[in-house]
Amino acid sequence: MPAISFDGALAVPGPSVVDGLCHAGWVMQDHFIPPELSRQLAAECVQSMLNGNMKGAGVGSGHAPLLQPEIRGDHIEWLETGRSSACDRYLAHMETLRQTLNRELFLGLDEYESHFALYGPGAFYRAHLDRFRDDDKRTVSVVLYLNEDWLPEHGGALRLHPDGGPSVDIAPEAGRMAMFLSAELLHEVLPTARQRLSIAGWFRRRG
Ligand code: OGA
Ligand code: MN
Repeated sequence: MPAISFDGALAVPGPSVVDGLCHAGWVMQDHFIPPELSRQLAAECVQSMLNGNMKGAGVGSGHAPLLQPEIRGDHIEWLETGRSSACDRYLAHMETLRQTLNRELFLGLDEYESHFALYGPGAFYRAHLDRFRDDDKRTVSVVLYLNEDWLPEHGGALRLHPDGGPSVDIAPEAGRMAMFLSAELLHEVLPTARQRLSIAGWFRRRG
């Protein structure tokens, strides 16, 4: 399985990441963040839901994404720097990863956008690409999972559909990161039986 090694604050993608992203179009990594940071982020995500700050996620880009629960049923809140020390640690990790991807893969990634996502029991996200329109600059998608003790019967896997290959299911276990090419890799979130927490993010090209 393609993987990158992620040692503390330093992301070090090796040849397997180049292979994964360029050839398979995806990679995954366990222990991408330490358990204590995952627990802080999970608590913050749940608190945000309790405070009413998580909104039903829309479909499509632009000013008025449409709520379409038959396509996606998650609630989201966009992350900003400075909202909490846990989020800032996470965003610093992602900045290191952005620089490393640019150095190793010449991807020209300029920015990162991300949001908490909470899928309540029964929620799912039908098969889609992460680049909705021609003017969307999303290039690499990264999802970090925040759920301890995830069991197969909880469902809720990220199902990747690589071109010409068998599909791959990734369970949303705490500390696990999945990364894939936004415009190319068809993927979906299978219906979850349990509350499912994550941070979904996208490295973008500006121009
Ligand atoms: C998304 C998405 C996958 C996941 O938010 O666009 O595909 O596993 N998320 O949460
Ligand atoms: Mn997606």
